[in-house]
Amino acid sequence: MAIESFHCSLCGRRVKIQSRADMPVLDPNTGFGICKNCIKNIYNFIEEDERRNSRTNKKNFNSQLGELLAKNKPHVIKEYLDEFIIMQERAKKILSVAAYNHYKRMKYDLDNHGGDEEIDKSNVIIMGPTGCGKTAMLSHLSRLLDIPFAVTDASSLTEAGFVGADVEVAVRNLYYAAGRDIEKTEHGIIYLDEFDKIARKSGANNSITADPGHEGVQQGLLKMLEGSVVEFTERGQRKHPEAPTIKVDTKNILFIVGGAFVGIEKIIEKRVRKGDSNIGFGSEIPSKEDTDAKFNELIHQVRPEDLMKYGIIPEIIGRLPVICTLETLDEDALLRILTEPKNAPVKQYEKLLAMDNVKLEFEEEALRQVAKMAIERKTGARSLKGIIEDVMLDVMFEIPKTTEPRRVVITEACIKGEESPKIFPLEETVILSKESA
Ligand SMILES: Nc1ncnc2c1ncn2[C@@H]1O[C@H](COP(=O)(O)OP(=O)(O)OP(=O)(O)O)[C@@H](O)[C@H]1O
Ligand SMILES: [Mg+2]
Repeated sequence: MAIESFHCSLCGRRVKIQSRADMPVLDPNTGFGICKNCIKNIYNFIEEDERRNSRTNKKNFNSQLGELLAKNKPHVIKEYLDEFIIMQERAKKILSVAAYNHYKRMKYDLDNHGGDEEIDKSNVIIMGPTGCGKTAMLSHLSRLLDIPFAVTDASSLTEAGFVGADVEVAVRNLYYAAGRDIEKTEHGIIYLDEFDKIARKSGANNSITADPGHEGVQQGLLKMLEGSVVEFTERGQRKHPEAPTIKVDTKNILFIVGGAFVGIEKIIEKRVRKGDSNIGFGSEIPSKEDTDAKFNELIHQVRPEDLMKYGIIPEIIGRLPVICTLETLDEDALLRILTEPKNAPVKQYEKLLAMDNVKLEFEEEALRQVAKMAIERKTGARSLKGIIEDVMLDVMFEIPKTTEPRRVVITEACIKGEESPKIFPLEETVILSKESA
């Protein structure tokens, strides 16, 4: 006969068995049983304990570090980034070195336990036009590194007390990326995306005179950048005085901040022009190439005082010693982005269609047209996928109707919307010879 109830051997409460979930541990022969509630409590206790003990895992961490250092040399990191990111050579180098030095710094710190000679952190600021690869580069970097890495959108942060996310959220995101291990969190990397959005509105780039909100966010971030103990509650828990909190020291966390800093080139130009009135870009209406060339030349000359004028407080700029600028992507770069990266849009569509026995071919002129249209949209590489997606929709819809091998050709006119993609039957021999090749 099925047991209808039992007494929990731990808390003693009588538990009515309504489903299997009510008796996770129960031995019908001896009557020994633990109720669901007690199991939950035990689980929480163990988790909490492991988290507290993570600080004692230092030794373990140190031995791993040697391995990580040997594995993640700058040239290796850059090679990995090269597989996904076109151009932006300097930025890829800067990030590779920053990540490697971060490991080194940790190792030095742990080896010289308690010593007071520390290697300074080199937080990085990345700037460049929209859609040039800032977020993409950092997300690929995070996949490669074996240290926790979290991206937080700075524009979502608000000053404590205001509606929105407090600056601590950036550390909390890292804590979760580190599998809730405090020791690992304290050595992770935080990427603050859209950092320019927290520039003071009273900066030269804006007209409003006072902006306490954004300045408050910057002050909050400054504390984290300087290294302080940040306290936050678990996700989903409301902040109230008795809520248990997690404390993380940010002293050794590497901060990378990035943003488009729209309009900063004007500030740089103003400063540069003061010293040199002819910076050599003719006086006629500039072409798109000229504007890009000028932008690229100016952005590489950015100095801390320009960022200050833009509305970032000097104390923060002082904590971001490495300035890394990205270039505007021209038509040729966009063309390469369509086909070269490991996850290039064209490669992705080829794979998708191959699963339906279809060989996808983009004519060279078609790809160039995609790049041209993306340039017109002024959102860098961001719009490439969308443009192709529009053209591919009907193909993706029609193709799976049958399984016979076919060939799809995308022409320039298809991209312009003047004709639909052509679907041809493909003789089996062609596919066979391809497979045996
Ligand atoms: N240099 C590049 N190489 C390869 N792909 C790129 C490159 N730049 C951008 N892309 C592609 O374009 C998309 C948009 O780029 P990303 O999100 O990195 O832009 P961003 O620089 O962060 O722009 P924003 O300032 O608007 O946030 C990415 O998904 C990526 O696939
Ligand atoms: Mg971005």
